[in-house]
Amino acid sequence: MRKTMGRGAVLAGLGVHLPPGVVTNDMLAEALDTSDEWIRTRTGIRQRHIADPGVGTGDLAVEAGRRALASAGLSTVDAVLLATTTPDQSCPATAPQVADRLGLRGCPAYDVSAACSGFLYLLTTGAALISSGLFETVLLIGADTFSTTLDPTDRTTRALIGDGAGAVVLRAGREGEDGALLGFDLGSDGSQVDLLVVPPRGHFQMRGKQVFTNAVIRMTESVERVLSGLGWSVESVNHLVPHQANARILAAVADQLGLDPARTITNIGDVGNTVAASIPLALAHGVREERLRPGDRVVLTGFGAGLTWGAIALTWPGISITA
Ligand code: COA
Repeated sequence: MRKTMGRGAVLAGLGVHLPPGVVTNDMLAEALDTSDEWIRTRTGIRQRHIADPGVGTGDLAVEAGRRALASAGLSTVDAVLLATTTPDQSCPATAPQVADRLGLRGCPAYDVSAACSGFLYLLTTGAALISSGLFETVLLIGADTFSTTLDPTDRTTRALIGDGAGAVVLRAGREGEDGALLGFDLGSDGSQVDLLVVPPRGHFQMRGKQVFTNAVIRMTESVERVLSGLGWSVESVNHLVPHQANARILAAVADQLGLDPARTITNIGDVGNTVAASIPLALAHGVREERLRPGDRVVLTGFGAGLTWGAIALTWPGISITA
């Protein structure tokens, strides 16, 4: 766990975008041997948004990025970073095209790849770029069209995954102000790569039960490291915003932490597992529901392929988002 010193990185804007196409559980059940009841009770998911053919990760990222810039009241930033595991092409990175389409041609732009932990790796990198004094503002976008990696006949992964994008703007500020990112924990274990993998020219494969167990342990431990580094008690945390993998995983993490499950913010029922977009989509849900208030203590956590995991603690800023 690392604690930022002195100059801080402050959350200054938030924006999200979901592709309009919705696939309900009943729609999946028309094509696959599954049911709305099975999916809802095992995962908490009712529907997911799926991008139309021809709509790529970059397209979703541009919309979320535009909204985050508007939320921050900025038209320019010093760098654009994109967390994605489904870039528009394997080379080059997608971030430079996204930056160009946002009118930010010329600024440094690159991709970060850490699957479902992507947004936490991205936030940590962006905060470090600001805390170091290198940049004053960064646009950080988590976007994935992970549905494109799925075997269309696989009822398990198709039930879980949705597409989407979410973005934040970080600006230089003081550690003591609302919105400051205060504590960070990241980790990986490449020896367990086969638990969640998209093999070359293959479809996404997952060992569901082992993923479930690992996700609960890794997210719980990562949150505990961040809390102990900051001297925050579990009771003092107003909101836990986890990567939205499966509602049962989120309930188990809250239980292991001894945190009131009502303090978990999630909209997994409406969006499913959206990989790198998952945490900002939950944050936007929390803002819309007026649950996230300035000064609240918020802890983000995530787990995903790699294996990778992480947690970040911050206080919530006074920001608004567009519809
Ligand atoms: N509809 C109906 N049956 C399904 C199904 C679906 N959509 N998906 C899987 N099943 C079946 C399986 O084929 C298996 O059948 P079998 O026993 O005949 O082989 C059975 O359900 C598995 O049942 P069970 O083991 O009791 O399921 P589960 O409670 O472990 O739930 C997952 C399965 C995938 C929902 C669960 O393991 C999970 O969520 N894992 C984590 C996944 C995740 O979060 N991945 C992303 C991490 S970032």
